[in-house]
Amino acid sequence: MKAQFRNDTPIDFDVVQSVIQKMNLPCIGKASIREIKRIIDLIEKETGQKFIRMEMGIPGLPPPGIGTEAEIKALRKGVASIYPDIDGTSELKTEISRFVKNFLDVDVDAESCIPTVGSMQGSFAAFLTLARLDEQRDTTLFIDPGFPVHKQQHKVLGQKFESFDVYDYRGEKLRDKLESYFSTGKIHSVLYSNPNNPSWICFTEEELQIIGELANKYNVVICEDLAYFGMDFRNDYSKPGVPPYQPSVAKYTDNYILFISSSKVFSYAGQRIGMMVISNKLFAQRSANLLKYYSSDVFGRAMIFGTVYALSSGTAHSAQYALAAMLKAANDGTYNFLKDVKIYAEKANIMKEVFLKNGFHIVYDKDIDRPVADGFYFTIAYPGFTGEQLIEELFYYGVSAIALSITGSTRTEGLRACVSLVHPSQFPDLSVRLNKFSEHHAVSGNPCLTV
Ligand SMILES: Cc1ncc(COP(=O)(O)O)c(C=O)c1O
Repeated sequence: MKAQFRNDTPIDFDVVQSVIQKMNLPCIGKASIREIKRIIDLIEKETGQKFIRMEMGIPGLPPPGIGTEAEIKALRKGVASIYPDIDGTSELKTEISRFVKNFLDVDVDAESCIPTVGSMQGSFAAFLTLARLDEQRDTTLFIDPGFPVHKQQHKVLGQKFESFDVYDYRGEKLRDKLESYFSTGKIHSVLYSNPNNPSWICFTEEELQIIGELANKYNVVICEDLAYFGMDFRNDYSKPGVPPYQPSVAKYTDNYILFISSSKVFSYAGQRIGMMVISNKLFAQRSANLLKYYSSDVFGRAMIFGTVYALSSGTAHSAQYALAAMLKAANDGTYNFLKDVKIYAEKANIMKEVFLKNGFHIVYDKDIDRPVADGFYFTIAYPGFTGEQLIEELFYYGVSAIALSITGSTRTEGLRACVSLVHPSQFPDLSVRLNKFSEHHAVSGNPCLTV
C-alpha cells in the first residue's frame, strides 16, 4: 500500500500491520481459514471495529426448533446413557432414505443410509474404506476447487490424491479430462461438491451424466458432497416428491456415495451430524482385499462394523433424533427446509453488486452458459492483485476472505467470499469500505497499484 493512504484506511493501519507481524506467518494469503479467523479476531479486539467477515463458512442462522425440541425430548428420555447402533437409529435411517427419494428421486435402502459425525467423518470413513477396496487403486481424484479439509484428511491418512481445476473443463471437455485419470487404473474414487464450495458452480445434468458414465466404464466410485443440498436457488428443489430434484450423479451411476451435511442446510453444524448414503450396489459389493482390514468382505459392512466402529462407534444419540425430526418434517412437506436458507442467496446478490460496482469481478462466473447462482459463497478478484495479495490488502479496509489458491483453484487472482456471517446491517459499511479501496486502487494507470 502506498504510504499516502496509510492514514486513510477504514481500519487503523498500524494495528493491522502489527497483528500480521505478530502472527509470524510466511504469507498471510496462504494462511488457513482458521488462521485468518484468528488474525481478524485480534484486529477486531484491538480496534473495537467489526469486520465484514467472509472467511469462514459458518451457518449464520438459528437451528430449526423442530430439531432442537426433538433433541431435548430425546435427552430428557435418557438417550444420553445409551450407545446408539453404529449405523444409526432405525427412524433416522428410514427418514434419510425417504429424503433421498423425495428430494433426489433416488432409491436407496435405509440399511445403506448411515449418520456420521458431520459430513467430515463421512468422507474420512469413505476415503479410508475406498482405498482398501481394490489393491490396484490407491488414489482419489478431486474435481477442484474444493474444501481444503478433504485434502487434509488424505494427508492425515497418508493416502494419495490427484486434482484438477474444473474451470477449463466444463461441459463435454470434462469427459477427456476425467478419462485421462481413470484410464491409469489407479483412481478408486472421485470427490466434488455440488453446489461447489468455494466457487458455487453447479454441474449441469450433462456433466453429471459424463461423470456417471465414466464411473460405470472404469468402475470408479463417485463421492458426491451435497453439503449445500438444494441451495442452487435458480430452481426450487424444496417440494418433496415433486420435480425438479437436486441434480445428482446418482441418476447416472449406481456406484456412488452421497454426503449430505446437516450443517448448512439445517443450520445444525454444532451437533456434528451428517449423512452418508451408499448406493445399494456399492453397499453390497464384495472384495477379498477388504478382508485384510475387516472381518467382512462386503463394502457396507466393512464401512459400518470396521471403519465407523473404529472411528467413533456411531454418532451422538440425541442429534440423531434431531435430524430424524427435521427430515421427517421435510419429507412430510410440513417444513420447507430451503426457505430458511434462501436468505444466503439474497445476501449474495446484494454483496456481489457492491463488489462489482467497486471494480471487482466474479472469478467463477458461469455454469457453461448461465451466470452462477447466488448462494453461500462467491468468488472475487481485483485487477492487479493476486488473491494472496488481495487478502492482506483488504484487511486494512475491514474485509476478510480466503484465497482461492488454498482450495486447489488455479485462479490465483481470486478470493472466496462467504456471505453467511455478514449481517444486512453491514451492507452500508461494505459499500463505504470497498469504495475507499477502489479509490486507493484505481485501476487504469494508477501509480498506487503497488502492493
Ligand atoms: C463442501 C463441504 N463439505 C463438507 C463440509 C463439512 O460438513 P460437516 O459440517 O457436515 O462436517 C463443508 C463445510 O463447510 C463443506 O463446505
